[in-house]
Amino acid sequence: MNRKPLLAGNWKMYKTSRQAREFFQDILARLNPFPADREVAFGVPFTSLEAAVQAVSGTPIIIAAQNVHWEPEGAFTGEVSAPMIAAAGAGAVIIGHSERRQLFGETGPGVNKKIKAVLPAGLRPIVCLGETLAEREAGLTFEVLAKQLAEALAGLEKAAPGALDLAYEPVWAIGTGRTATPETAQEAHAFIRGWLAEKISPAAAGATRLLYGGSVKPDNAAQLMAQPDIDGALVGGASLTADGFAKIIQYDRS
Ligand code: PGA
Repeated sequence: MNRKPLLAGNWKMYKTSRQAREFFQDILARLNPFPADREVAFGVPFTSLEAAVQAVSGTPIIIAAQNVHWEPEGAFTGEVSAPMIAAAGAGAVIIGHSERRQLFGETGPGVNKKIKAVLPAGLRPIVCLGETLAEREAGLTFEVLAKQLAEALAGLEKAAPGALDLAYEPVWAIGTGRTATPETAQEAHAFIRGWLAEKISPAAAGATRLLYGGSVKPDNAAQLMAQPDIDGALVGGASLTADGFAKIIQYDRS
C-alpha cells in the first residue's frame, strides 16, 4: 500500500503571523527543490492561518488548524468552525491532541464530532491518540488506544479509506525529549493498524497514514520513519525552527 509520508509540524501556541511569514520564507529556501515523495503540513495558530496560507501559496505545503468546533456557526464565543478554517485556505485540522484532552477537557465523543464536522468541509483530520506514562506502566497502552480509536471513529466506518490521518503520540514522549524507540512506536502503530483492519476494514487499515509524534528530532526522524507502520511524524518543538524542521522533512528515505 502506497502511503505517502506526511511530515507535519504542530506549532502549538507559538508564532505571530509575521513570525509565520518569516519562517516560511526561510524554510522554503531550504526546501528547494521541494521533495516530491513526501507531504508537508503545518498546524498553526488561528491568527496565523491566512498569513501561512499566503506564504506557502504555489507550494505543496498544507496549512492546518490545531482545533475546530463541530458546529458550522452559532453562538459559541471563542470558537472557530470547519467552514471558517476551510475559507481561510487551510487544508487540514489537528484534532484531539493530548494537550487539548488533558488541559481543555477534550473528550473522545468531542473528537468524533469534530472529525465528522471537518470531513464535509473538505479538510483532512489529523487525529491524535496516545497513552500517558501511568497508563503505559500499568500495561494499559493497547486498551487506551482501542478506546480512543473506538470513540474517535464511531460512525465513520463508511468514510473513504485514508480520508484521515492518525497520529500516535505517547503523552510521556511529548515535549519531554524522551522519544519512543522505533520498536516501541512500531508496536503501537501495528496495534492501531490491526485495530483498523478488524473494526473498520482492511482497506482503511492499508490506506490510513499513521504518524508518530513525541520528541521527533532531525537525528531520530529517519529511524522512526523506517518502521513499516510509521507513515509520518507530527512534530512540536522541532518544527519551530526552519533549519531543524527542514532536516526532518528531508530525512533519508533510502
Ligand atoms: P514534541 O511535540 O515534538 O515537542 O514532543 C509533539 C506534539 O505535541 O505534537
